[in-house]
Amino acid sequence: MTAPQTLLVTGGAGFIGANFVRYLLDAAPSVRIVNLDALTYAGNLANLAGCLDDPRHVFVRGNITNSELVGYLLQTFEVDGIINFAAESHVDRSILGPVTFVETNVKGTLTLLTAAREARVRRFLQISTDEVYGSLGPTGSFREDSPIRPNSPYSASKAAADHLVRAFVHTHGMDALITRSSNNYGPWQFPEKMIPLMIHNARCDRPLPLYGDGRNVRDWIHVLDHCRAVWQVYRKGRSGEVYNVGAGNERTNLEVVRTILRRLGKPESLIQFVADRPGHDRRYAIDATKLRSELGWRPRVDFESGIAQTVAWYLDHPDWLDKIVSGEYRKYYRTLYEGR
Ligand code: NAD
Ligand code: TYD
Repeated sequence: MTAPQTLLVTGGAGFIGANFVRYLLDAAPSVRIVNLDALTYAGNLANLAGCLDDPRHVFVRGNITNSELVGYLLQTFEVDGIINFAAESHVDRSILGPVTFVETNVKGTLTLLTAAREARVRRFLQISTDEVYGSLGPTGSFREDSPIRPNSPYSASKAAADHLVRAFVHTHGMDALITRSSNNYGPWQFPEKMIPLMIHNARCDRPLPLYGDGRNVRDWIHVLDHCRAVWQVYRKGRSGEVYNVGAGNERTNLEVVRTILRRLGKPESLIQFVADRPGHDRRYAIDATKLRSELGWRPRVDFESGIAQTVAWYLDHPDWLDKIVSGEYRKYYRTLYEGR
């Protein structure tokens, strides 16, 4: 498939979406991006610094559940393809309040699929997560044909969206596909997620709240490696297929937090074990053989240097962090962590 002229990228003011917009403006000079984002608590125009003046990037504040708006954008900008990053993305918030997760992740995806079909958009890529597969024991890894067994309201809503994508392919012959990535880290990540949260707390000499025994395992990928995979799948992936995205960096949370503390020169006494997350998935690990062998993708960032760069990035952007943590974040943080 040749590169499309205009892409609708949703959720492009969030962590991965903003990194993707920046990546694509650089990597694909013939592509114009219409970026639709509701600017929820997680969306931040500061994440798009340097991109907002680019004539190939049009930012639109709006909701993916708004079918009139989505239809209008597809028609007005003659959109060739959609990449859907927009989502409620945080497991802990989905436990506190699951309704918006169903609204955005399920209804929003359905709205986009329906509008894409009506406007005869050529390709639809759904950005999903390895969390739809549930949790692993000490061995093995998720393949694309692993059973879908979501355990949190977040992952259940993402799994529902994936099923809708599959249904539109089979029922309507739509050209659509899905990526399922493991945990991302890198610049512009909202500090409710573990890595930026721990960096922020450590730089302020505040306790680092590790859930349970700290031995849960996540399989980390640098956000830019994920962005490269997304673009490769969008251009070269086969319709109707799922592609796992992972870089083979399994670490316990305790290992990650110790690495962060070492990079910052802070003591391990800052680690505080707190009550576990309800239903906490024990281990994720991705088998990305299909993406590697079919599409030739390889990760470029090794975990140790990726973490070092990431810690340095947050230390270099104290204003970005401080602005976030002085807003709604305070109330959220108190609700979640006090009493744990
Ligand atoms: P994020 O929470 O940082 O950003 C989400 C963005 O979507 C925000 O800018 C927000 O304003 C926007 N948004 C939310 N609801 C919206 C709505 N109804 N309409 C329009 N915009 C809306 O999330 P992220 O970490 O960048 O994740 C992006 C995507 O990647 C999500 O679909 C997520 O499920 C998936 N994913 C994330 C990870 C990860 O480690 N962060 C891993 C695998 C998959
Ligand atoms: P998170 O970044 O929320 O991603 P996900 O739940 O989607 O994997 O959490 C990553 C891991 O870190 C997960 O095992 C939960 C754990 N965690 C903590 O121990 N403490 C924290 O404060 C947070 C936010 C997460």
